Amino acid sequence: MRKSKKDGSGKAHVASTINEPLYVNRPVAVNKQGFLSRFDEIWDARWFTNDGPMVQELEHELAKYLGVGHCVLASNGTAAMGLLIDALGLGGKVVLPAFTFVSTAHLLALRRMEPVFCDIYPDGHDLSVEHCQELLSDETSAVIATHIWGRPAKIESLQALCDEAGIPLIFDAAHAFGTRHGERMIGRFGRAEVFSFHATKLFHTFEGGAVTTECSELAERLRQLRNFGFTEYDQVDCIGTNAKMSEVHAAMGLANLESIESIMMGTRDVYEAYERGLRSIEGLTLARPRSKAETNNYYVPVLVDEAKFGVTRDKLVSVLHSENVLVRRYFYPGSHRLAPYKAIVGDMISLPVTDFVSERIMVLPGGASLTVEDVEAVCSLLERIHLKHADKGDRPPLSDNPGLG
Ligand SMILES: Cc1ncc(COP(=O)(O)O)c(C=O)c1O
Repeated sequence: MRKSKKDGSGKAHVASTINEPLYVNRPVAVNKQGFLSRFDEIWDARWFTNDGPMVQELEHELAKYLGVGHCVLASNGTAAMGLLIDALGLGGKVVLPAFTFVSTAHLLALRRMEPVFCDIYPDGHDLSVEHCQELLSDETSAVIATHIWGRPAKIESLQALCDEAGIPLIFDAAHAFGTRHGERMIGRFGRAEVFSFHATKLFHTFEGGAVTTECSELAERLRQLRNFGFTEYDQVDCIGTNAKMSEVHAAMGLANLESIESIMMGTRDVYEAYERGLRSIEGLTLARPRSKAETNNYYVPVLVDEAKFGVTRDKLVSVLHSENVLVRRYFYPGSHRLAPYKAIVGDMISLPVTDFVSERIMVLPGGASLTVEDVEAVCSLLERIHLKHADKGDRPPLSDNPGLG
């Protein structure tokens, strides 16, 4: 985590220019010693992959942390979701949001299945239960909902819908490590949940992912599939793939898990600083979680209202980039508008909320790699851009930036 910048008096100050790039979800690197000591163990044991002791320990520790029966690690989140789709024998159509990372749609399309894109709610940006219900048919084999921005989807309503339809409910929990829903952690809901432990996630293993589930048979099947279908030496019982996590990746996971409480606290401090800093900036609305207790605070999604703020989302993104604030548009355009899917679904599909949100949302740098002072500098920059463009008279100077013209 970066240290706060303080002046001689010990008081923190807000930088007028941002000298180092601020990234959305810069990888956390906090426990080097914890990683290196495990790396030495791996080196000495010469057990580098194939369900080694670090992978087994991380699976055990994650299952304990998440309060779930089984955690099956994989080489990345996409591979983990692929294993799950195959283990459940899904086919035909699967309902999923268009406002999510495109990896799941790709997995379905690559298996000659049809991704059925569903709209989202304007407040939480998560899968609309009502629209999902409309899209279900006899050919639907599952619903895959995303806990978008690390906040729980409408879990109970979706579960009731899927129970009624007799199909499994899967959650893409790639954003949601460390989030609670009621008394339970995300990871224990639906038939199974899938995490990404990519370097840019709140908890990471450099690259990695996992399926978590309460179902022992499903966990067993996933373990076979991730290792070419082997059940014993020289015995292959099903068609599988290679989706194993290596020992070095698991070692990074164990080191990060040791530090998870301080990572989560640093992340929360950063989010709360944005809550304070963005409050007074007209035209920027922080998309808040439905419940303050049910978020990991990692993502900082902001809706830009061009009429009130003074510039479009896209112009604001380019101005911020030139000022070292590397904000990102998210899930823009929605999956239904990406070339491979546009070719299938055409222009007939109507997902008005997805289109509205993906055209206006901007994600600010968040997470424990930032300091509260970084956030104050970003908010102060946003304020100055707004004042300049909303023509309010008070115009503090910005750095020499042609994008602001
Ligand atoms: C919502 C969502 N789903 C799935 C994935 C895919 O995970 P991975 O990059 O680990 O394959 C990501 C990651 O970037 C994601 O953000």
